[in-house]
Amino acid sequence: MEPGENIDPEIFGTFEAQLMEKSMNLKDKIDLLHLPNHVAIIMDGNGRWAKMRKRPRTFGHRNGVKSVRETSEAAAELGIPYLTLYAFSTENWSRPKYEIDALMHLLLQTINQETATLNKNNIKLNAIGNLDSLPQNIFKSLMKAIEDTSDNDRMTLTLALSYSSRWEITEAVKKIVADVKQQNVDPSHIDQSFVSNYFTTSNIPDPELLIRTSGEQRISNFLLWQIAYAELYFTDVLWPDFRKNNLYEAIIDFQSRERRFGKISEQIKVENS
Ligand code: IPE
Ligand code: IPE
Ligand code: MG
Repeated sequence: MEPGENIDPEIFGTFEAQLMEKSMNLKDKIDLLHLPNHVAIIMDGNGRWAKMRKRPRTFGHRNGVKSVRETSEAAAELGIPYLTLYAFSTENWSRPKYEIDALMHLLLQTINQETATLNKNNIKLNAIGNLDSLPQNIFKSLMKAIEDTSDNDRMTLTLALSYSSRWEITEAVKKIVADVKQQNVDPSHIDQSFVSNYFTTSNIPDPELLIRTSGEQRISNFLLWQIAYAELYFTDVLWPDFRKNNLYEAIIDFQSRERRFGKISEQIKVENS
């Protein structure tokens, strides 16, 4: 059964209208001049969402695609320049083969189906992670979608695929050592910005807001270096239930926080005045 299938369409229509009104009210509370420049999301809880409905885990993954669409659209509409979604971790390769296969199939389908919408919404697709480890057909489709959307400039949507932060840091160290050995680099020139240039995220700013769904309060090897000063937001909402108003709630919460970057409150107040 699909969500809403056995619900009277009239009642469902009212419910949808109420939801829409709620999200409009929430949207109005957002200060558009102080949006996070980059929002990153650990999309978690698909399996539990399906289990609650006595359906296979893959049903949860399939329903998570709508949340991806809604969240990307909401972020672009608000004017958030960068959105990064953790879709598949290095550690997720240890899941049962049938689940990995289903996730890869869904990824391929989504890339192929959504490229037109990305273009319509002027969204540029980007990907980070060990992309060489993806099945060939997926790698090719992904590269094509990235190429086909490369002129878009409203928002950059980055998918983290076969990504883990420790993998990324290890790869960066290997490349830095090779460059030092070949004497392309003097070790005294290695500072923080030099190191970040070796990451797969070198062309995107650090996230200012990191959201994790499903009630888990951990980072699971995601952007460890890059979230040094991100605001963390955890919600119990399972990813397939995540909608525009959930993103708005996270942003409103973000905007209520004082980001001090090691300084004291009085300094921040002077800087912002
Ligand atoms: C997130 O949902 C999707 C991926 C990690 C690919 P999960 O599949 O982790 O769902 P839960 O955490 O088991 O509910
Ligand atoms: C994190 O979710 C990875 C993604 C969302 C892609 P997991 O469900 O794999 O994380 P753990 O295992 O609960 O830490
Ligand atoms: Mg999970």
